Amino acid sequence: MSSDLLLIKNGRVVDPGRNIDQVSSILVRDGRISVVGEVTADVIPEGCPTIDAAGLVVSPGFIDIHCHLREPGFEYKETIATGTKAGARGGFTSLCCMPNTEPPIDNAAVVDLIRRRTREDAIVRVHPIGCVTKGRKGKALAEMEELASAGVVAFSDDGDPVYDSNIMRLALTYSADLGIPITNHCEDHSLAKNGVMAEGWVATRLGLPGIPAAAEEAMMARDISLAELTGGRLHLAHLTTAGAVVLLRQARERGVNVTAEVCPHHLTITDKWVLGNMGVESGGASTQAYDTSTKVYPPLRSGRDVEVLIEGLAEGVIDCIATDHAPHELVSKQVTFNEAAFGISVLETALGSSLQLVHSGKMSLSALVERLTVGPARVLGPAFNEFATLEPGTPADIVIFDPDAEWEVDPSEFESKGKNTPLRGTTLKGKVLTTIVDGEIVYSASPRSES
Ligand code: DOR
Repeated sequence: MSSDLLLIKNGRVVDPGRNIDQVSSILVRDGRISVVGEVTADVIPEGCPTIDAAGLVVSPGFIDIHCHLREPGFEYKETIATGTKAGARGGFTSLCCMPNTEPPIDNAAVVDLIRRRTREDAIVRVHPIGCVTKGRKGKALAEMEELASAGVVAFSDDGDPVYDSNIMRLALTYSADLGIPITNHCEDHSLAKNGVMAEGWVATRLGLPGIPAAAEEAMMARDISLAELTGGRLHLAHLTTAGAVVLLRQARERGVNVTAEVCPHHLTITDKWVLGNMGVESGGASTQAYDTSTKVYPPLRSGRDVEVLIEGLAEGVIDCIATDHAPHELVSKQVTFNEAAFGISVLETALGSSLQLVHSGKMSLSALVERLTVGPARVLGPAFNEFATLEPGTPADIVIFDPDAEWEVDPSEFESKGKNTPLRGTTLKGKVLTTIVDGEIVYSASPRSES
């Protein structure tokens, strides 16, 4: 038996970058895709490990350009080991981790530490994102060139915006030279203030301070202007409002170098979930109201916002889905809504949530896979293209999933340390069965290997 070979046969191969959506077989050799199509007996050695993917989708592994792995500093929330296991269980083969760690990723030594931990503990690829400002304090630019040389794939102060417009201008100017995007968390603090959920009737009904849509849109408009001024590479994190999609579309039409992402939760659940009863109106707040697992930044918004975000994603105005996986320890959520930490543990539910758009006919399967593979790779730049395709010769980063398998979300089964999900007890349709990185099976839901 040769362990450097793997045959995946009879699967529905969806490779959007090459316009492929057909039943086919894939032969992996020495960690790379060797053949896609008919794999004839003469090239398959006896005893070649085989996965029968009949009835399943086989696609490039998903790329998450926005998640929080919490290491270093917050290992009680997540580590590179647990976060990458969660990623593998969710079908992700590349994770880009945000720098709101302690210390923050604002110098080459911290990047090196993450690289070392990745070599030792990670089961999928990990790509660090560097800070825009020193210490994420918003006062002075981080050494962007040093960070770029150390290998960061984007810059962000995520968790906080780059508040100072001149610093954002400088960052965008450097990003053009470095060819690395600035991912801004658009939040005008003076508008968001102490808000804990979306401004609107639900917040009023619950007596919770609201965050207006303008908190996101005002900073987005500023950033688009600055990207236009500088020619820099702007990427907008976690869009949530209908107005944000309008601004993005207009910027795109003007040819601004801007890309954007949306999260699975903002595409599928609304602020009504804070009332409890999983967003189903029952004439008021249920006994499950104020569920802190629905507290996330930016907040869950209205049904109308969700519709427009879905349209934006389906059209391709929004480039990609990113999880903003934000694991938290239990106690930081077992407090009042006002006190609770912002964030949802998303890696393991991302596919099942996002597939709702396909099952409801709002997007094709191929388009959804595009937004989880080619779209994120486009944001990061050409070096990522080889991870977003099943083209022969490229690294064998593959996910095999059953788009129709139903499963109940039980956070106690999560690989992530973060059990903070509002989807607890809900049924999702779409399940990852096997995740492969560099030709190696790093996650398998059920043993389907035949030999
Ligand atoms: O809900 C969030 N949690 N939004 C962010 O922007 C940061 C994240 C975190 O780090 O917990």
